[in-house]
Amino acid sequence: MSELIGIDECEHLTAQQVHSLYGKYVSRSQVSLMTSFGFGRELVERAEGMWIWTRGGRRILDFTGGVGVLNHGHNHPRILAARRRYQERERMEVHKTYFSPYIAALGHNLAQLLPGDLNMSFFPNSGAEAVEGAVKLAYKYHKGRRHRILRADIAFHGKLLGSGGLTAVGQNRFTFPTIPGICTFQYGDLTSVREAIAAARRPDGRCDVYAILIEPFSASTVRFCSEEFLRGLREICTAEDIVLIFDEIYTGWGKTGSLFHFMRYPGLVPDVLTTSKSFGGGKSSISAFIAREPIFRKAYDNLTDSLLHSTSTTYYGFGEETATAIEAVNIAVEDDYPKRAREIERVLAPGLDRIRKEHADSVAEVRGAGAMYGIFLDGGPKLLDLAARLAPAGLARDPNFRIKLITCAVVDALYRDHGVYAYYTLNGHNPLVAAPSLVAEPADVEYFLDSLDQTLAKGLTRLLVRFVREKVAPRWPSAS
Ligand SMILES: Cc1ncc(COP(=O)(O)O)c(C=O)c1O
Repeated sequence: MSELIGIDECEHLTAQQVHSLYGKYVSRSQVSLMTSFGFGRELVERAEGMWIWTRGGRRILDFTGGVGVLNHGHNHPRILAARRRYQERERMEVHKTYFSPYIAALGHNLAQLLPGDLNMSFFPNSGAEAVEGAVKLAYKYHKGRRHRILRADIAFHGKLLGSGGLTAVGQNRFTFPTIPGICTFQYGDLTSVREAIAAARRPDGRCDVYAILIEPFSASTVRFCSEEFLRGLREICTAEDIVLIFDEIYTGWGKTGSLFHFMRYPGLVPDVLTTSKSFGGGKSSISAFIAREPIFRKAYDNLTDSLLHSTSTTYYGFGEETATAIEAVNIAVEDDYPKRAREIERVLAPGLDRIRKEHADSVAEVRGAGAMYGIFLDGGPKLLDLAARLAPAGLARDPNFRIKLITCAVVDALYRDHGVYAYYTLNGHNPLVAAPSLVAEPADVEYFLDSLDQTLAKGLTRLLVRFVREKVAPRWPSAS
């Protein structure tokens, strides 16, 4: 056997060595894809707040918000202290037979912060696990007697077999087997929800839908439901005894200007809520589903069923993760993260609107809320034609890929020319996303806006040609 790499040596690997190891042991194609961007070619030395320092000594403004994970910014001092404290006191996290004070306290805190009787929590590791746990709970609530679950046509709920199946078809390039009975409605359209329920009605007229799963704010398409739609869904679900699940895995803990997006509407309470990402303060891989008490009690709260979806899952509520989440939640509340998001919005929204007007030939639309905005680029038919000719062979005919290529060119230019790290979503029209951490200062937002303005001033055609010539073409043969 060849020598094993130790942690010290690992921290001194060069970018080239890391790419080579990824190629051999992780994924060659991932290396080809991600090295098209400046950030795929560099390694990170350290990160703090809004900033990343690369090995090469560059300081990068991280405007991605960690794709939902970094409301607290990188390495928040209170989060680091909570983790150190847990380690230094040599706490125990493995046995589930000893009750955990951390799980008890976190469950208590969530129940205090969430409206109504959203009181009962379960703490797995990832968003997808929280979604699947919520769906399983809804199925069990109906004792397996209902067989359909409704999801939106633009849904994103994760990538495991269950959550991946619940993710909208448009996002999946390949169909995997999944849970049975998934039906689709149009996002934001109550008539379409009623039709889907009616189509699933049994011959005796009884409802066959056990759950409706929805993101009140869809981060992957930057679309959000109206108050009327969400309240209408609540009414339908109450009338038909359907379990209403809000997926706020991305948008929780202040991102769009309220603690959870749905909480801007007083009195609106789902039956189950899912959260993850910034719930872990940027350091802890933890998620949760939180259920209304009667739903949880009917599904699992008896001696026979209490272990069906239970604390015996290996990494359920792991100590350091849970302690970190307690601190992350306390910070979000004490530092009023919803207010911070609204303050960011006060600079970001008018700035983006100005950019949309000044670059009307490049920016089709800007939309969002709080610290979560999408910038929809579109250079008109001529540029789309050019993108189709320059796209790697095989992808040219995919209209979404053309927009994606143009957006990638802007993402690449922001990073290369201005040291600004932004991302684009993989859903729908692939908007460029401006979703900074909630520790962002007005000056950070202004720097992003100036950088975007200067980048777009170069013209999308120039940016696209440069990106394809220098980054894409050397890796992938283009269409023409
Ligand atoms: C709304 C939503 N649901 C579910 C997930 C899946 O979470 P995870 O990637 O942790 O499995 C995500 C991830 O981006 C998400 O944004």
